[in-house]
Amino acid sequence: MSDAYDPSAEGAQMEFDGRMSYGDYLDLDHILSAQKTWTDTHDEMLFIIQHQTSELWMKLAIHEIAAARRTLAAGETRPAFKMLARVARIFEQLNNAWDVLRTMTPSDYTAFRDALGQSSGFQSYQYRQIEFMLGNRNKAMLRPHEHRPEIVRMLQDELAQPSLYDVALRLLDATIPLPDAVLNRDLSRPWAPDPAVADAWTQVYRNPRQHWELYELAEKLVDFEDYFRRWRFNHVTTVERVIGFKRGTGGTGGVSYLKRMLEVELFPELWHLRTDL
Ligand code: HEM
Repeated sequence: MSDAYDPSAEGAQMEFDGRMSYGDYLDLDHILSAQKTWTDTHDEMLFIIQHQTSELWMKLAIHEIAAARRTLAAGETRPAFKMLARVARIFEQLNNAWDVLRTMTPSDYTAFRDALGQSSGFQSYQYRQIEFMLGNRNKAMLRPHEHRPEIVRMLQDELAQPSLYDVALRLLDATIPLPDAVLNRDLSRPWAPDPAVADAWTQVYRNPRQHWELYELAEKLVDFEDYFRRWRFNHVTTVERVIGFKRGTGGTGGVSYLKRMLEVELFPELWHLRTDL
């Protein structure tokens, strides 16, 4: 039998004394030492990694949404479309991840649930930031972060900026003028559906050729919200499968709270206009 293949024969770098390695570049020692289990149950590792990887993908989503918003505000629609397409794919990735978590049965989860105390995804500040960036702005959601003033400040800064949807509406206004009340609204409040906005988007959809960029922007937003809705739906289904109708560790009614969140519409006019076309 021949010896095992040695990749250095084709030039693979095998010595890293004083050189940047894969682990150095990615700071892997740091990341891979962050999976601290609180019990000796088998499934807790899955639960922790699932949440940590979700938070990493959310970090990338925030990076992309922030850049898309900046780029759109500067009128550069093409690069923004590319970023929005990526955000939708990130959510698709998050959606596929539920399949791994669903291999955890209620018996598996119950074995370590008490170790969570009152911690819950409800307190995910990155998730809240994403919602605020998109326009689902509920100031009550600042309260779970009051013990971390820097996070409250970050979320408040977000509430002071136009959401991604506000920026899209400013672009829409450049072609089809919108009322002042829409353009100069109190940014810290959640977006409420507006008939003039619905009418303007409907004009875009009635004549896509004439308004192609706005049409494409609208479809990018709908595509993203579609994936976001699937995330919410997969979450609530997984939760029902794992804890039934028990209260959440965060203290809400659990499935009842998450079902209520399924009703959130980020870009309502873009969904409603489909009925009238
Ligand atoms: C077995 C797994 C899971 C269970 C049983 C579960 C349960 C729950 C429950 C009951 C809530 C409502 C708040 C509460 O009272 O706690 C919630 C909220 C939340 N969970 Fe999960 N969850 C699970 C997995 C995940 C994963 C993997 C993520 C990914 C980061 C996540 C992110 C969130 C977020 C962001 C919220 C807030 C949703 C909102 O306010 O609209 N959850 N979860």
